[in-house]
Amino acid sequence: MILAAGAGTRMKSSTPKVLHRIAGRTLVEHALAAAAELDTRRTVVVVRHEREAVAAHVAQAAPHALIADQDAVPGTGSAVRCGLSTLDATTVAAAVAAGAVGDRAVLDSQVQGSIVVTSGDVPLVDGALLGALVEAHDAQGNAVTVLTAEVPDASGYGRIVRDATGAVLRIVEHRDATDAELSIREINAGIYVFDAGHLRDALARLTTDNAQGELYLTDVLGLAREAGGRVGALVAPDASAVEGVNDRVQLAAAGAALNTRIVERWMRDGVTVVDPATTWIDAGVVLEPDAVVLPGTQLHGATRVAAHASVGPDTTLTDVEVGEGATVIRTHGSGARIGPGATVGPFTFLRPGTVLGADGKIGAFVETKNASIGAHSKVPHLSYVGDATVGEHSNIGAGTIFVNYDGVTKSSSHVGSHVRIGSDNTLIAPVEIGDGAYTGAGAIVRHDVPAGALSLNAVPQQVVEGWVERRRPGTPSAEAARAAQDGAVARALSSGAQEERAAAAHHTVKDKGEA
Ligand code: UD1
Ligand code: CA
Repeated sequence: MILAAGAGTRMKSSTPKVLHRIAGRTLVEHALAAAAELDTRRTVVVVRHEREAVAAHVAQAAPHALIADQDAVPGTGSAVRCGLSTLDATTVAAAVAAGAVGDRAVLDSQVQGSIVVTSGDVPLVDGALLGALVEAHDAQGNAVTVLTAEVPDASGYGRIVRDATGAVLRIVEHRDATDAELSIREINAGIYVFDAGHLRDALARLTTDNAQGELYLTDVLGLAREAGGRVGALVAPDASAVEGVNDRVQLAAAGAALNTRIVERWMRDGVTVVDPATTWIDAGVVLEPDAVVLPGTQLHGATRVAAHASVGPDTTLTDVEVGEGATVIRTHGSGARIGPGATVGPFTFLRPGTVLGADGKIGAFVETKNASIGAHSKVPHLSYVGDATVGEHSNIGAGTIFVNYDGVTKSSSHVGSHVRIGSDNTLIAPVEIGDGAYTGAGAIVRHDVPAGALSLNAVPQQVVEGWVERRRPGTPSAEAARAAQDGAVARALSSGAQEERAAAAHHTVKDKGEA
């Protein structure tokens, strides 16, 4: 049971606290992920504040989870009461559907066994810690087992009150504590395992007789003990792991702590991370051994980096697959697949739908979108490739633009295999270029080019000799041209190599007094 009904006032946000993100997941998703690591029968999330937004998010993040609405009674005890009644209603409905008849059978079909209660704002609590709590609860045969921690500054937290033998008696909230109780350093982390029967009985006996006028879940411990149940505690080995997020300073601190944990885990699994301090890796990212992550790199979402691939420096990838041995330098990418041995960057923008084949290349100052570039094909420099396919072993010349948008609709272009697109081409979609075709430098390609053809439409070069001296007399250019010509004539006379001048004159066009 995940408690997520609180207002989260200190976040000062229009977004509910449990929907703020660290390591690529909302706070409540971290709680759901930890719960999912337990062998649970059912998961229920208790909501109230910003109910619609939180419930919609939970439905999408964990479709199997039940949603329980907290009623108007405030406090964690009220939240758990509402959560438990939703769980009971669900199990009873299932039993009735399966044929249970009569009051006795219906009561017996209420939830039995252990209920883990955690909070939607403690993102560093993972499945291992929850599992250890459940294990201690089962081993000790407890009615309640509470997770605690020894902290240097206990203010604000509930304190764990033990007797002379060390047995847990009860929890006292900060605002209800005596001076002696306030000096206790062991705090309630707000995470528990309850025996369902004991919990149901104690919840029915909670009162609002306290400083905040709320139903305190923490009172269940004392009540369960009075009813003859055993109450135990597990002290968290790392107190910082149970810290909650109440404001944005704590949000950033939890994000950094979680990132450190994630980065260290990958390093222990064989990934080289050159600078952990500037490397940010989301919880859902997967890295293979001998992958290398260089400084200033952020890996988000469902990004995967295969063995021996190198990513960074200064690269941000979201939902990108990087193949084995590929290299991705100074790149901003999302929704892309980079084949094994391929190279990307520097200064490259990969947009969704980009697929680069094995040993392919997308080079400097290239933007791609919805573009499939085949194995061994290259887009090395200064290009835009949008809504296009390129076959294998083709080369796209520097400065080529795939013109996919006519101002109203988008169209696609297809380039075959072993094609050579010249530099500075404009390919106006929809256009198809057959296998083995060439296009000239500066070509504007509006019509299909068949396989093996050369497509040219640039104006042939004209050289008009002496144009500058005649048309721009007296300018520095004209003087420079005169000096160069005088030098050439002198050299020609002295070497007697007049054939050279004759050969050069062959390629010139007469100046017909054009403008
Ligand atoms: C609670 C504990 C305190 C413990 C601390 C640990 C109680 C009475 N006190 O105090 O002993 O040290 O957690 O962080 O339980 N919530 C609801 N509905 C409500 C109130 C809260 O769902 O009506 C949820 C919140 O969303 C949050 C969790 O319960 O996820 C804890 O609530 P919060 O108000 O933060 O409790 P604390 O006062 O911090
Ligand atoms: Ca809290």
